[in-house]
Amino acid sequence: MRTLTVYTLLICTMMSQACKKNDEKIPAAADTTAVAASAVAKVAYGTLPDGQAVEEYTLKNKNGVELKVINYGGIVTSLKVPDKNGVLEDVVLGFDSLKGYLGGSPYFGAIVGRYGNRIAKGKFTLDGQTYTLAQNNNGQHLHGGLKGFDKVYWHIAEVPAAEGPSLKLTYTSKDMEEGYPGTLQAEVTYTLTDNNEFKIAYTATTDKKTVVNLTQHTYFNLTGNAKRDILDHQVMLHADKFVPVDKVLIPTGKLKDVAGTPFDFRTATAVGQRVNEKDEQLIVGGGYDHAWVLSPADSGKAVASVYEPTSGRFLEVYTTEPAIQFYCGNFLDGTVVGKQGNAYAKRFGLCLETEHYPDSPNQPSFPSVVLNPGETYSTQTTYKFSTK
Ligand code: BGC
Repeated sequence: MRTLTVYTLLICTMMSQACKKNDEKIPAAADTTAVAASAVAKVAYGTLPDGQAVEEYTLKNKNGVELKVINYGGIVTSLKVPDKNGVLEDVVLGFDSLKGYLGGSPYFGAIVGRYGNRIAKGKFTLDGQTYTLAQNNNGQHLHGGLKGFDKVYWHIAEVPAAEGPSLKLTYTSKDMEEGYPGTLQAEVTYTLTDNNEFKIAYTATTDKKTVVNLTQHTYFNLTGNAKRDILDHQVMLHADKFVPVDKVLIPTGKLKDVAGTPFDFRTATAVGQRVNEKDEQLIVGGGYDHAWVLSPADSGKAVASVYEPTSGRFLEVYTTEPAIQFYCGNFLDGTVVGKQGNAYAKRFGLCLETEHYPDSPNQPSFPSVVLNPGETYSTQTTYKFSTK
């Protein structure tokens, strides 16, 4: 039997009556309105090979939107949001149990670090010293290495937040772990707001000069329960340029204008409309698997969005990061069997990974990913759900 611990935070707003002189009123029962019943529940989820117990936390907002998170990889295992008829369905890919996540998950729902995306040949140099990382992807380094932040145990604590239920996930990455210099204290805060936003705040500090690029690798399928591919999802990317790559998906170093190419998502366009065009960059990527250089957004405007016409679900992305890796699940091939026995076939999910450009440690013209002792790495990303 699973043990269930429920911490319920009941936020009550007292509507105070104006007390007039000589006419004092005791607030009546109707004046006390319970505005939110935000809750975090925690259940046992399984045990890691080293004996560490993993728990699953469920965050629920006042609209019934529900986010589930586990300690392993800080993985988002489920995110239920309403469609245009108010039907709540799970819009993220994943597995029904810990076993699935331990057995070769393509980063479903996970926090990715210390460096999200690729580093050429797994090598970079800081202050004249060359560091060597795992070459775990076609001779290149991908997503932090053999045991990146997606495969470690994150300590989770519930934290009070005015906006809705919130969890703080912490992990200490030791000096030279996966070849990266410096002990890194990483903190990721997940908040589910009552505006149906999944807010992520990342911070990190180091005791030695290092490189950091943290992101979140949730695969979205807004149809709900990944019933089909994402080719009809209409994607908007607020970007005039993207980062072309070579055949092992390492940046060539130059940025390219999206204008006149299938990479122009400045107007929302269905993923399937151009993904199979004979474009050299689409061919090397096997589809969209590139970083778009985000143009500065007008204040309060999303940098990316996804609309799924059947369900009416609409996802907007806000971020402080300079780029977004739009990956449309090209490498899914039906061999990964996920929730409810669902074999995730090609393009059954899409990722919108907010981050710095790939291979930045080796590309002096790209924005820096270096973190020095005494500095705090701090980025924020919000995924906001609504319907149209
Ligand atoms: C990368 C893909 C990679 C995938 C792994 C994405 O972030 O851009 O190239 O295959 O992660 O699942």
